Amino acid sequence: MTRAEDLEKRLELLVKFGGSISTETHIHKLIELIADQVKTILACDRCTVFVIDRHTNELWSQVAQGMQHTEIRIPYGRGIAGHVAATGQVMNITDAYGDAHFNQDTDRLTGYRTQTILAVPLRNINGRIIGVFEVINKLAGAFNKDDEGILQLLGSIASSAIENAQLYESLSKSQLETIYRLAVTAEYRDQQDTAIHLRHISEYSALLAESVGLPQKEIENIRYASPLHDIGKVGIADAILLKPGKLTADEFEEMKKHTLYGAKILCNAESTLLQIACKIAGSHHEKYDGTGYPARLRGEQIPIYARIVSVVDVFDALCMPRVYKPKWEPGRALEYIKGESGKAFDPMVVDAFERVYDQVLKIYSLSDAKTTVIPGITREINRHNY
Ligand code: C2E
Ligand code: SIN
Ligand code: SIN
Ligand code: FE
Repeated sequence: MTRAEDLEKRLELLVKFGGSISTETHIHKLIELIADQVKTILACDRCTVFVIDRHTNELWSQVAQGMQHTEIRIPYGRGIAGHVAATGQVMNITDAYGDAHFNQDTDRLTGYRTQTILAVPLRNINGRIIGVFEVINKLAGAFNKDDEGILQLLGSIASSAIENAQLYESLSKSQLETIYRLAVTAEYRDQQDTAIHLRHISEYSALLAESVGLPQKEIENIRYASPLHDIGKVGIADAILLKPGKLTADEFEEMKKHTLYGAKILCNAESTLLQIACKIAGSHHEKYDGTGYPARLRGEQIPIYARIVSVVDVFDALCMPRVYKPKWEPGRALEYIKGESGKAFDPMVVDAFERVYDQVLKIYSLSDAKTTVIPGITREINRHNY
């Protein structure tokens, strides 16, 4: 094969690469998928994808050991991979055992003999190093400049997929489920249909985030963080929360504290997702014109997540029955939202809401039908969605 033919073939594989990895969100599977394809594209015997663990300052990866996958961890700065992560340099090594940086432990673990290594840093869109790509033992000869360029290109494609998967992993599925259950429990006292309301908040918020043009990662952030917006209601007494009529001014002052309680519950959390949930819980009753609570923030001072959730929250609260009011028709709720553009709500978010309104309505009618037709089991059905 000529160099031109070879590059053309690789280019073809490269195009496929981006598409096939972009949908895998489970990080271990993703790394396996990437390693497998990179191995083919680079025509080498192995590929190891190392990811930096910021909490422990280690690089971790998984290596095949017979049929089993074993996690390996390398301290930042150690070994070839650690050196590349620390310096950001590409390393092209023709004799691994003759290189001072090489660490033979992995070979000992897997019974493998590393000869040639090409290692490049994995950088995210901001240029920050998030890991290292290592390809090992090229099938013919040593790794060359073409290989270096291609591996770097593959790395830049893989980085966003890896970062995305890391977000999902930062909270495991069971943790997410626990959080949803907590949210449902917290609100269950005042709303029979809490599970539906929370799913609406989640789905509408994600639609809206997409419509205002937030990046994929932020869309997912808001999808998972938004249902926690009213978690602070756990701190509100039944006498107020469940009051079947209009609240007195004092009672409403007490009610307003659910934003502060919610922020307090969530703000010490380490995960990005819960940090965002904290912002939403704390600011979802702020108003664009500065007349909201608890801090009377205005305009862009209000986090975009909260500006989105406030529209969604009011829309869905209006469309759901409450102990203090019957439910509204969605069309009337939409008119109300539009009327509050520039007052309670960010006009940009209201415009985005109008654009996705048809999709919102579809999701709404789905659950509306469920509640009226089979009220007895609605709650169970919806629970499984969390
Ligand atoms: P929520 O029921 O989830 O309502 C969320 C937000 O939707 C409200 O925030 C408000 O902006 C909007 N909303 C809900 N129902 C109506 C309505 O009938 N008319 C209008 N114009 N807007 C409505 P807000 O007002 O800050 O209330 C926060 C929370 O305080 C409510 O959450 C609810 O739990 C409680 N709350 C508010 N007013 C009353 C009330 O009169 N009686 C009782 N029992 N609880 C109330
Ligand atoms: C190293 O990065 O130094 C060795 C680890 C490996 O090749 O898998
Ligand atoms: C109501 O008027 O029934 C409560 C709605 C609100 O105070 O925002
Ligand atoms: Fe609220």
